[in-house]
Amino acid sequence: MNLNRDSLQILDRVVELLEGGFETLSSSGQTSGSTSDELILNLVAEKLHNNYPYHHPMYLGQMMKPPHRLAHLAYTLAMCINPNNHALDGGRASSEMEKDAIHKIAAMVGWDNALGHLCGGGTIANLEALWVARELTGGKAIAVSSQAHYTHNRCASLLKVECLEVRADERGRMNVGHLEELLDANEIGTVVVTLGTTGLGAIDPLEEILTLQQKYGFRIHIDSAYGGYFKLARNLSEYGMRQYQLMQHADSVVIDPHKHGLQPYGCGCVLFKDPRAAKIYKHDSPYTYFTSDQLHLGEISFECSRAGAAAVALWATLQRFPLAQNGDFAQRLECSRRAAMQLYEWLKESPHYEPVVTPELDIVVWSVRAETASLVSAKAREVFEAAAARNLHFALVTLPKKLVEPAGQIMNWDNDEVTCLRACVMKPEHEDWMPRILQELENVSREILEK
Ligand SMILES: Cc1ncc(COP(=O)(O)O)c(C=O)c1O
Repeated sequence: MNLNRDSLQILDRVVELLEGGFETLSSSGQTSGSTSDELILNLVAEKLHNNYPYHHPMYLGQMMKPPHRLAHLAYTLAMCINPNNHALDGGRASSEMEKDAIHKIAAMVGWDNALGHLCGGGTIANLEALWVARELTGGKAIAVSSQAHYTHNRCASLLKVECLEVRADERGRMNVGHLEELLDANEIGTVVVTLGTTGLGAIDPLEEILTLQQKYGFRIHIDSAYGGYFKLARNLSEYGMRQYQLMQHADSVVIDPHKHGLQPYGCGCVLFKDPRAAKIYKHDSPYTYFTSDQLHLGEISFECSRAGAAAVALWATLQRFPLAQNGDFAQRLECSRRAAMQLYEWLKESPHYEPVVTPELDIVVWSVRAETASLVSAKAREVFEAAAARNLHFALVTLPKKLVEPAGQIMNWDNDEVTCLRACVMKPEHEDWMPRILQELENVSREILEK
């Protein structure tokens, strides 16, 4: 498996260029690497073998997409300086890059004057959005779908805000009828709309939720940590594309560059349509170091120290992959989507499996055909393990009866939940690899399900 080894040589040249920028300084006396460092790194490399092969197209398990080599190199280059984007003193150049990258992501959402910043990931990004929402709604409850990421429930408990669960419909989308019942009966300040749920990749009906907003007046927070970039794809269903077109009507949006944005982990992003959200972040700490009267990112971010390298990597990636419809980046997402639909079509024809829902993005979930719910779950596990033994990696997901029942293949519901197989078809290479993936899945299915 190629782990970008060839491209690491580029670093040799660019680090030299970077060093050139500091050549007026006398030597710091730091020694370069010692043999014991190399021995330790050998040990590290050996230890790292104990991972699934996330980079490889035969890995379709969890939401793990390798960073682009440009992001990898830019991150590593920035690490020679290790800037801190808390304040301009810690990361002058990388803060500028962060602001530029944020501006580009906000423009993709449809905003040109948004407030936003990078952060550790989707969890922190959502926590900040819900914290700001709590402050601006006087602590009113939030409503989230039962298929939303579990982080919202946790965030609500941390924020001491009531969290009301909205039922999901049979496609895994928020059930708007139930949301309206909850709005009638409760003081709801914020509705969390997920564009791309973690389990199924389902897209909540933003257009209908916006209609309810006119009647009930709540904030809308979009959690598109996973699915945000699919705004650029043109091969979603008409329904899906319509929801994405309405994103700019939300009050806040979360998109994770470390999921579909080709970035290393530690790169989430939260955006607020109204830049006045900045007032919630206000603090009067005497400790922050100011040598500039310009806004620095620590003033509008919950986390203080943050990796400037994450901003550098994202900025570099955006030079190569602008966030444009029709652009290379959008086409790569479209490849993933097509590959997911190929898998879905194959499953529909398979005598062994039943897709749970029609994929709305690039996540495919399916159950094994069997008489009882517990057998379905047990066989899913067997397939999962046998496939992994052949280096074909999926994930398992446990779903409520309500989501799996409509497919109608389980006769005896001896359990209210059922374990299904799940594939995150996130890599553009998956399109070319799909025939091989399907062949291997066919082999595994014969071995396990026809014995
Ligand atoms: C929709 C959604 N929101 C939030 C999160 C949490 O993001 P993170 O793991 O980056 O904290 C995830 C992670 O899978 C997600 O899919």
